[in-house]
Amino acid sequence: MASETSTADAMVSDTPAVPGPRPRDLVLEHVEVTYEGVFLAAHGVNLRVPAGKIIGLLGSNGAGKTTTLRAISGFLRSERAAVSNGTISYGEGVRLVGRSPHWVARQGIVVVPERDKVFAGLSVAENLKIGSAGTRNRTGKRERLEVIYGYFPILRERGTQKAGYLSGGERQMLGIARALMRRPSLLMIDELSLGLAPKIIEDLLEIMTRINEEQGTSILVVEQNAAATLDVSDFVYIMESGRIVLEGTPGELRDRADVQEFYLGMGGQEVRSYGEVRPHRKAARWWG
Ligand SMILES: Nc1ncnc2c1ncn2[C@@H]1O[C@H](COP(=O)(O)OP(=O)(O)OP(=O)(O)O)[C@@H](O)[C@H]1O
Ligand SMILES: [Mg+2]
Repeated sequence: MASETSTADAMVSDTPAVPGPRPRDLVLEHVEVTYEGVFLAAHGVNLRVPAGKIIGLLGSNGAGKTTTLRAISGFLRSERAAVSNGTISYGEGVRLVGRSPHWVARQGIVVVPERDKVFAGLSVAENLKIGSAGTRNRTGKRERLEVIYGYFPILRERGTQKAGYLSGGERQMLGIARALMRRPSLLMIDELSLGLAPKIIEDLLEIMTRINEEQGTSILVVEQNAAATLDVSDFVYIMESGRIVLEGTPGELRDRADVQEFYLGMGGQEVRSYGEVRPHRKAARWWG
């Protein structure tokens, strides 16, 4: 399919940077999230996204990744959830806990959700237009759109097509492009690679790296795909049962036998959770 090859092939080498708000350090300290007042889905999460970095948050189903994103973006109340402890800050003195999603977005933090990232009944161009709703400055919008088409040329070609008919990869691109229309300083993507073919994932990761380098945007990638996360991130957190169980640079994590065994599928044995990886081996590596 043309769309699957054109992304990488049609890359522009020197996309201009459109000045957006400057990224700041995102810092989560001892964050606890409770659903329905009883179920604790995040326990004392400490996590940092330093300005201008790509950070990975890796974990399997139900680990608490989306919950952590909701805590940052303010999308908790609609889920009958709340941050019951801890602090989240974006730059000096900017506290995010208790703020509305709209307020958080105005700080430059924009999330690409796992589901419902595009309006299926609207065209690609209409989706992008809605992405920038609320932003003033028409010329700025047009420039922004050109920059985005530079990263995702297929979206220009598909402009009049209904978003509902896009392939999975194109839909993810449109979700990211919509988020970029809001000029984020921190972009958070929930399950970037879910359901996509390896080549598409590779192309998307390359584009994310370019956006990070050329636009200076900080990126938090939330993933179940360890190989993809380790490839693209400056630093990675591994989450399980609501806790960060491991953190390190991709190099440090790749060297660990427990990570290879469970997350990179190099152990040959089926393990359901990181906690089941042979404890003696884990302990030896953990402290060694
Ligand atoms: N709206 C909700 N109400 C109650 N419990 C929820 C809600 N959303 C998530 N949970 C629970 O919180 C825990 C963490 O879920 P979360 O969606 O954050 O995990 P995840 O790491 O994003 O998983 P996945 O990879 O499957 O998306 C799970 O036990 C889940 O059942
Ligand atoms: Mg999730």
